[in-house]
Amino acid sequence: MNLKLKIWRQKDPNSRGNFVNYQLQNISSDSSFLEMLDVLNEELISRGEEPVIYDHDCREGICGACGLYINGRPHGPDSLITVCQLHMRKFRDGDTIVIEPWRARAFPVIRDLMVDRSAFDKLIQEGGYVSVNTGSAPDANNIPIKKEYADLAMDAAACIGCGACVAACKNASAMLFVGAKVSHLTLLPQGRIEARDRVRHMVAKMDELGFGNCTNTGACEAECPKGIKLTNIARLNREYYKAAL
Ligand code: SF4
Ligand code: FES
Repeated sequence: MNLKLKIWRQKDPNSRGNFVNYQLQNISSDSSFLEMLDVLNEELISRGEEPVIYDHDCREGICGACGLYINGRPHGPDSLITVCQLHMRKFRDGDTIVIEPWRARAFPVIRDLMVDRSAFDKLIQEGGYVSVNTGSAPDANNIPIKKEYADLAMDAAACIGCGACVAACKNASAMLFVGAKVSHLTLLPQGRIEARDRVRHMVAKMDELGFGNCTNTGACEAECPKGIKLTNIARLNREYYKAAL
């Protein structure tokens, strides 16, 4: 495949960024999107130019590091996959592909396509965990949990913290991410103990970090690579009201 890439280049958080055009020839349609970027970077390095900086780690759809806007969509044109799971056969020979970093005030650009997502870590530090002693694995197996709740908690636990929900949202809201974390822990007896403090602290932190509020647009659910549902935001709201009583 021959491709024209329009890639956002930005030297550092304080510099103005701009799009730079690149031509790529003979890219295999079987290669992944990140492998295609690797080929581009090899070419740039061999010409003595700066490679394009982008984030990635597992390349298996697990870690959530590889967030990119591709042709106006977080994680590209396919549904329910991350950028590292996207293949070049989803594009056509001669296509122009526009590649941008996540856009949100709480995720400032570090360089080129890499953004600082440590705001998510700060949210998790506010209660996205269980700190009480819940025993060992056999103890967990002795606690009866309704199948319906176990399934809902498991679905919410599928969130990989990629940030596509924030980037897709016109309000840059983190409520799908926080809703997934609150649901995952609050639906289970082990996480219920700290539910009130967790939801209060995580919501306060979202506001402090500059994330917006949910207005039920649904872009987050549409672009989430793990199929996290808006019902998790409804549960987050319910838990928040309960904690305020
Ligand atoms: S809710 Fe979905 S889009 Fe948002 S961080 Fe989790 S996996 Fe990514
Ligand atoms: S590199 Fe880990 S999810 Fe893509």
